[in-house]
Amino acid sequence: MTSHDPQLVHRVREILNDHKGMEGPLLPILHAVQHAFGFVPQEAIPVIAAELQMTRAEVHGVVSFYHDYRDHPPAAHTVRLCRAEACQALGAERVAAHAKAKLGVDWHGQAHGVALEPVFCLGLCACGPAAQVDGKLVARLDEDKVDAILGGMI
Ligand code: FES
Repeated sequence: MTSHDPQLVHRVREILNDHKGMEGPLLPILHAVQHAFGFVPQEAIPVIAAELQMTRAEVHGVVSFYHDYRDHPPAAHTVRLCRAEACQALGAERVAAHAKAKLGVDWHGQAHGVALEPVFCLGLCACGPAAQVDGKLVARLDEDKVDAILGGMI
């Protein structure tokens, strides 16, 4: 979609209309936009800003502050590595460093169709380091398991 995509603007305006009169509408609007497009398109920001009488920078600042909002299309795969204490005690930082190096990204980055996200406890504390790979839980991660997981994706 381009910045002059009338369908995009039309859909964003529909979402804005759905939230008319709401107190503090920005976050619900951004959620609805992300739900509609899979991310918050750059082109939606001036439309939202104008409607809410905010600056583009203010809207962009909210999108970039909350990691739940994406400003680009989602990756085909998501690897969420646990960074909470129990997993840290079992080597999560070492495993995370390996995954980051393999993908060449930091947290919240994506490469080769894989997004790398931190998560704080997946309920597998006794058998960490833990991860969630495309929604499926994985326990007892090590560098070899990371290589096998990413090898099947990239
Ligand atoms: S601390 Fe990692 S799963 Fe609980």
